Amino acid sequence: MKRVIIVTGGASGIGKEAALKLAHQDVSVVVADINMELAEEVVLEIKKAKKEAAAYHLDVSKKENIQACIDFTVDKYGTLTGMFNNAGIGALAPFPELSSEDYDRMMRINLDGVFYGIQYAGNKMVELGVKEGSIVNTASIYGFVGAATSPHYNATKAAVVSLTKSGAQAYTPHGIRVTAIAPGFTDTPMVRGALDEEALKFLQGSHMRNQLLSASEVANVAVWLLSSESSAVNGSTILADDGFLAFK
Ligand SMILES: NC(=O)c1ccc[n+]([C@@H]2O[C@H](COP(=O)([O-])OP(=O)(O)OC[C@H]3O[C@@H](n4cnc5c(N)ncnc54)[C@H](O)[C@@H]3O)[C@@H](O)[C@H]2O)c1
Repeated sequence: MKRVIIVTGGASGIGKEAALKLAHQDVSVVVADINMELAEEVVLEIKKAKKEAAAYHLDVSKKENIQACIDFTVDKYGTLTGMFNNAGIGALAPFPELSSEDYDRMMRINLDGVFYGIQYAGNKMVELGVKEGSIVNTASIYGFVGAATSPHYNATKAAVVSLTKSGAQAYTPHGIRVTAIAPGFTDTPMVRGALDEEALKFLQGSHMRNQLLSASEVANVAVWLLSSESSAVNGSTILADDGFLAFK
């Protein structure tokens, strides 16, 4: 089966690693990101390896943009067999001081972006008659615990766990699975940009190997969920957390 997969947030971190790995499996990949410069770099790397990819300027907080990205993909590659709803932002703000602007922005990107990513990709795959479709969402260990310093982020990730279950119920009758990954703290620009050395050290200690996860090893789980090798898994959020939650 010809495989065509959109990776949102594919320009950096976990999404970038997933895009590279998928391309090496001969998947045609659309690297969809708000950062077009970095997205183009990922596509160049894929093309240098003589694999297929295209960059797309996507802002997941704009639902019509998600639909346009899906239409672009089908126009270019003739089908859509997978969607990795991975784009997201992280932010720290104490609960009492969280501004309504920051709260709304978080909801639009991390929650609305995933909801419409599932709905529009799922509907398109149904329309195309795709069987063995796979939609994978990026949740987080923070979807399973609270945090006084990032209540809005944690809420969106808990919602992604829920949307994954509901999406699976809705689209499985059409042959499309919906699953999610829940990474622990992963060494990506998001984490490096938000935390100082002391905080990083503390967080490393919350993982069994006493280190951050690599974006590559987390992406491995997403790539597996996007493949039919994971056909036994549906509606589930798979922890890729090096035991973080086993400590809790
Ligand atoms: N790094 C971690 O520790 C960690 C842990 C758990 C979950 N996650 C989740 O993993 C996902 C990927 O994060 P990452 O760590 O690879 O970070 P990252 O910052 O390296 O990558 C995120 C990508 O998303 C893109 N993006 C941001 N806003 C966007 C928007 N509105 N529309 C389209 N693209 C947008 C960015 O440009 C970037 O390329 C996120 O959903 C994040 O919440 C990360």
